[in-house]
Amino acid sequence: MEQVKTRMLFDENSIAARVQELGKQISVDHPEGNLLLIGILKGSFVFMADLARSLSLPCQIDFARISSYGTGTVSAGQLKVVMDVGISVKDRHVILVDDIVDSGLTLSEYRKRLESASPKSLKIAAMIDKTARREKFVHVDYYGFRIEDGFLVGYGLDWDEKYRNLGGIYIIEP
Ligand code: IMP
Ligand code: MG
Repeated sequence: MEQVKTRMLFDENSIAARVQELGKQISVDHPEGNLLLIGILKGSFVFMADLARSLSLPCQIDFARISSYGTGTVSAGQLKVVMDVGISVKDRHVILVDDIVDSGLTLSEYRKRLESASPKSLKIAAMIDKTARREKFVHVDYYGFRIEDGFLVGYGLDWDEKYRNLGGIYIIEP
């Protein structure tokens, strides 16, 4: 396996503590319940598992898979919904869950698509809000940590499909 140099940014304990805070906040903000969490595959799978278990409300969970054509570390800007959400979002309090918001293209586009199906509310939760390369405005209602730039791996985030299973979040050193 190709060796890359990484440096830890967030360890497992600080991630766990932060996710608990987000879970509490989401629970307080949605007293009505009726929550539907929609994870964007594949990167959201670890955050989704922890976030869902940190909620003190009943919720439903579903996933969508969206590909952004092209490989590498910068998304190509064209979206294709490979697998759409299976549960109806109509009249639901929906939270879109993703690993990271970078350019904002994925979530801004998918959000538009879901909004046309009349959810009662629609919010965004992302473990990382990465701000430097934002192209489309996305309001990240619940974020774990905010960074300016850099390529991150671990806690669901991959580099060439690797490192998703690391417990902490690391930055790849140039
Ligand atoms: P977008 O640019 O906001 O559309 O982000 C699309 C996707 O790019 C994210 O869901 C991630 O899968 C991926 N991505 C963006 N930045 C990183 C990173 O630093 N590490 C790993 N994946 C990333
Ligand atoms: Mg992703």
